[in-house]
Amino acid sequence: MHPTSSLFDPIKIGDITLANRIVMAPLTRNRAADGLLPGPLTVEYYRQRASAGLIISEASQISPMGQGYLDTPGIYTPQQVAAWRQVTDAVHAEGGKIVIQLWHVGRISHSSLLPGGAAPVSSTSRRPNAMTFTRDGFVPVSAPRALRDDELPGIVADYRHAARCAIEAGFDGVEVHAANSYLLDQFLRDSVNDRSGPYGGSIANRARLLLEVMQAVADEIGAGRTGVRFSPMTTFSDTPRDSDPQALFNYVVDRLAPLGLAYLHVIEGETGGARHPADAPPFDYEALHRRFPGAWMINNGYTRSEGEDAVTSGRADLVAFGRPFIGNPDLVRRLRENAPLNELRADKLYGGGAEGYVDYPALAA
Ligand code: PHB
Repeated sequence: MHPTSSLFDPIKIGDITLANRIVMAPLTRNRAADGLLPGPLTVEYYRQRASAGLIISEASQISPMGQGYLDTPGIYTPQQVAAWRQVTDAVHAEGGKIVIQLWHVGRISHSSLLPGGAAPVSSTSRRPNAMTFTRDGFVPVSAPRALRDDELPGIVADYRHAARCAIEAGFDGVEVHAANSYLLDQFLRDSVNDRSGPYGGSIANRARLLLEVMQAVADEIGAGRTGVRFSPMTTFSDTPRDSDPQALFNYVVDRLAPLGLAYLHVIEGETGGARHPADAPPFDYEALHRRFPGAWMINNGYTRSEGEDAVTSGRADLVAFGRPFIGNPDLVRRLRENAPLNELRADKLYGGGAEGYVDYPALAA
């Protein structure tokens, strides 16, 4: 803990040294071009935001089967590596640091987005009442197929390969996306995972895939360049909470602690909603924080003063800001000077071009 630190002080997390504790949270923008490549506008978007202590890229699928929404970028082909290299070079030229969020959506997908019109894959064959975005607009997700146990080594290998691609693309590290009811969360939660065998049933079995992925990624690129994101209390994408999220995540963090990961990133409460949902039982995030020796990153609607309080009190080492970074490329300066923030153009979040993407003004020099 750093009880006297401020949001604006540097910090070393694992092998990565950050200029401040203000993190740009991962934000889906659906602007990847043919080949699911980040293009020149995406280079400019991240370059503009490089004064963040750390940028976490938008969620990027680790394989064709990991995609769940239209025009999200990948990190598994040589062309994607070369395209992301333009982004990392631009951020580094501005003195910033950037990790990529490794994503497999599992059952939150639609067959029209998947190779050969395949069914999405998950821990279960049960379909949630969730929607996704395709060429035809918002549509219900397709019915998933439950992965066989003998397919899971291939999923772990895809994470490992994507992590290697990320380093080749010049990223400072990766964040494994184990939040928001996507594939790894679909294995963790007993509200979704209805398997028997080594990957279903007990907490230890439901955590097995995540722990294998974290070990593989850490072995591949170094634990000091690896982070992970959880959302123990979210019900995002029509996915009920686990029956005992405290026991589940206490176990998971106990098992991750010895790996020496750079950081753990937790979404508190409902993703993009209440940090303390009225319908949710209390969840003791500090119980996880106490178990974790790496840097502790919190997220979900923090204001400047709430974020500063969290860091000065030692409750967190880092605070991730999402929507404020979309509208404010110079968010760090605005927070430092307590300057007003630009309004977010909510109709420009997903898809489209420069508008609402790279045209938000910075403060005058
Ligand atoms: C989204 O595309 O809406 C999205 C992606 C990743 C998340 C949450 C939401 O973790």
